[in-house]
Amino acid sequence: MNEDKYLTFALTKGRLAEKTMELLENAGIVCREMEDKKSRKLIFVNEEQKVRFFLAKGPDVPTYVEYGVADIGVTGRDTILEEGRRAFEVLDLGFGKCRMCVCGPSSAKELLLHHERIRVASKYPNIARDYFHNKKFQTVDIIKLNGSVELGPIVGLSDVIVDIVETGSTLRENGLEVLEEICPLSARMIVNQVSMRLKNERIRELIHSLEGQL
Ligand code: PRP
Repeated sequence: MNEDKYLTFALTKGRLAEKTMELLENAGIVCREMEDKKSRKLIFVNEEQKVRFFLAKGPDVPTYVEYGVADIGVTGRDTILEEGRRAFEVLDLGFGKCRMCVCGPSSAKELLLHHERIRVASKYPNIARDYFHNKKFQTVDIIKLNGSVELGPIVGLSDVIVDIVETGSTLRENGLEVLEEICPLSARMIVNQVSMRLKNERIRELIHSLEGQL
């Protein structure tokens, strides 16, 4: 548990971290050291404000938060749902908006309608399993892929995919379409359950200040 005087953030490396720092800056929290885009550093500290930042891979953010080495994490709702870690989700930051969908060729509509035993390829096997097994009560075979998931139905590995749709252009350019929408997604702020008690005042103040911007 991170009981020290610092407020520690685990951020998702890349654009999500940049957008988060913009929001935090408006809430009065800054870290000039992080502005150097060429830097390969992974930990940044602002001693004066007693804040610390880790730059992590998205799926590891909820892990750092669950174990309490970070008080606060920011990553996509897709990652939070997929990882299923213990943490309080406190804020929808409003950026990184997209949708988790079941997609495929239009011919796959029938298979979904008749609850056939189909093959589902996804980078998000837990989200896919939860959707088909617990919400649709449909038995499916899940095939885990690591990217370019749209290939699945095209090359005949799977009937459909469960994936993120933002603009829809990847689907269109590959002759696929949204067949069912699972849930809306965006960047979320999560908080370690113990930190929420031990650093309550500081965290509440931060949430309040961020809410004012959203
Ligand atoms: C994501 C997602 C889709 C695409 C959706 O992939 O998995 O493939 O973006 O965006 P669009 O609706 O705007 O086209 P990403 O670019 O992260 O790469 P990946 O396929 O290697 O995971």
